Amino acid sequence: MISDNSAGVQDATGEELERLYRDLDALDLHPLWNITGELLTETPRPKAVPWLWNGAQLRALGERAIDLVPVERGGERRVLSLGNPGLAGRPYAVGTLWGAIQCLGPHETAPAHRHSPGAIRFVLAGSGVWTTVDGDACDMHPGDLILTPSMHWHDHTNGGTESMVWFDGLDLPMIEALDGVFFEEYPEFAQPQPATRNVSEVDHAGHPGRFRAGAVTDELDPRSSRLLVYRWTETDAELTRLAAEADQAPVSLEFTNPESGASVLPTLSCSMHRLPAGRPTEARQQTGNAIWVVFRGEGHSVIGGQRFDWAPGDMFVVPSWIPVEHHAATPADLFRLTDAPVLRALGIYRERALDDPQPVTTTFTARTVESAPIPATASASATASATASATASASASASGESL
Ligand SMILES: [Fe+2]
Repeated sequence: MISDNSAGVQDATGEELERLYRDLDALDLHPLWNITGELLTETPRPKAVPWLWNGAQLRALGERAIDLVPVERGGERRVLSLGNPGLAGRPYAVGTLWGAIQCLGPHETAPAHRHSPGAIRFVLAGSGVWTTVDGDACDMHPGDLILTPSMHWHDHTNGGTESMVWFDGLDLPMIEALDGVFFEEYPEFAQPQPATRNVSEVDHAGHPGRFRAGAVTDELDPRSSRLLVYRWTETDAELTRLAAEADQAPVSLEFTNPESGASVLPTLSCSMHRLPAGRPTEARQQTGNAIWVVFRGEGHSVIGGQRFDWAPGDMFVVPSWIPVEHHAATPADLFRLTDAPVLRALGIYRERALDDPQPVTTTFTARTVESAPIPATASASATASATASATASASASASGESL
């Protein structure tokens, strides 16, 4: 009968289709027609979520790590990386960017190495530290930006008597995604100290191409900037000049490669944003990810309709295409790291301003841990354990690593 035959054909088709899917799965093949919507999204759908890490907590935990964990070969650095809760436990602040706080106690040196991922340092507090970059000892002060470009040897030394903390930003997640990560230890624990310091800074002193108002829009350069240090005193002066020209409206500048006018690294854009109290920025969407570091002042940002209150030392992230606007309650300076040069090089950078401020639907509460005193027994046990670990480590270093 016709109806029976028709049902038979449908059953056969259903079974055959199921077999097709099973066979595709067995051969690791994915039928695009079932996943088009999840791959080709109308707009970017970053897995990372807007988030904020409290600066006071970062600093307190960094100080605890200084007391408990030595800096040595193998671990290389005393760094606390920002892990975005949307990234399933990966140690990345957003999909393409590493963000972290690095801490160095008095008279400590973090050993010399180099790697293909490029890095930048933005100093938050402390004095007496320098980073030696391919033999150039670059002094570090609060507000300074220091570059350690791809495959440049670098070590950090604290020659002072107080701890220093700084923000570390790297392109590590994107270099990892490109399967391009290389890492090498320097043959000695640290590079030789040169007689003349801050050579790149002296070579580019007063160069007008160190900054540009707003952001780089056209220039691209596969080479990193040869200027390795951007001093806060000069950044501050330039922001003051720009704010005066703008009738004290919010202003920003991007740090640039003096030779080409491009962003400081081929993968990373660094910029500073001066926000006067009571004059919010417009809401904007940009492709690519951003990490913001609060250097000075208090206020809040609205990110995707969520309010994030911030204070000095706080770090927050704005994943791709999520609208953001900033409101300073006191005069504020914010540092920003983005992957914009990569998106511009690929021709997929987009940016737009929203017509209206975003309505605030929720307020973010940063996670905190109580800094309750450690019980005496637990404290003694932890100290003994750390000492044993440090001793074992020192022993291994003496027998293996060149110190
Ligand atoms: Fe490094």
